[in-house]
Amino acid sequence: MRRPILAGNWKMNTSLKEAVELVTGLKRELAGVTDADIVVCPPFTHLTTIRDVVAGSNIALGAQNMYIAEEGAFTGEISPKMLKDSGCTYVILGHSERRQYFNESDEFINTKAKKALEHGLTPIICVGETLDQREQGITGKIVTTQIKGCLAGLSESDMLKCVIAYEPVWAIGTGKTASNAQAQEVHALIRSLLTELFSETVAQKIRIQYGGSVKPDNIAGLMQEKDIDGALVGGASLKVSSFAGIVLFNK
Ligand code: PGA
Repeated sequence: MRRPILAGNWKMNTSLKEAVELVTGLKRELAGVTDADIVVCPPFTHLTTIRDVVAGSNIALGAQNMYIAEEGAFTGEISPKMLKDSGCTYVILGHSERRQYFNESDEFINTKAKKALEHGLTPIICVGETLDQREQGITGKIVTTQIKGCLAGLSESDMLKCVIAYEPVWAIGTGKTASNAQAQEVHALIRSLLTELFSETVAQKIRIQYGGSVKPDNIAGLMQEKDIDGALVGGASLKVSSFAGIVLFNK
């Protein structure tokens, strides 16, 4: 049985005050949860403040992105070392918005994943097809290329420290969730790729999150699928009631 992992990707949302209120509410509502990993990923500017609020709780801190160098002349970038220093244990890599608006390639995401692992951060590596690609019937091909590219050269022990998020681009922020069966089909494909690239043991251990319009009312169905181990949540992670409702899906 893989331990569920529910992560909130706050994206470029919340004032510092709103962020503190949100995480304070989550801490209160989710204090009793011991059977799942809970992660919040606020904007960079809020990280250290949120770290102090979640200290000693069951909520872990993640960042939404990072650069590949440790330090130096990279104006505007944030290093893995800085994320560690700010209390992060997770980092989302290769989110489709990064791929789409900032031209991130599988190769770049692969380098980021290696750097994150070197610094003891758990990468949440995102993959997923666009609507056009789904309609063309090439979802499997696209996800296969992304998985192979993003995970290239990782050792089995590194891979065991990663989380994968399958997020169909057409389901992100659109209110359109993939059906349970559509999501499961791609999750199963990802797991079979992990067997091929690493081993059956790795494939059975890795957690694969689904992302794309996850809400309190669709999470339970998704979680019933054999290869869905959690969710990466955008919009619904910005309210205490909805993110808590998602984390408490089986209560
Ligand atoms: P959404 O975003 O839940 O708002 O669809 C998910 C994500 O982008 O991670």
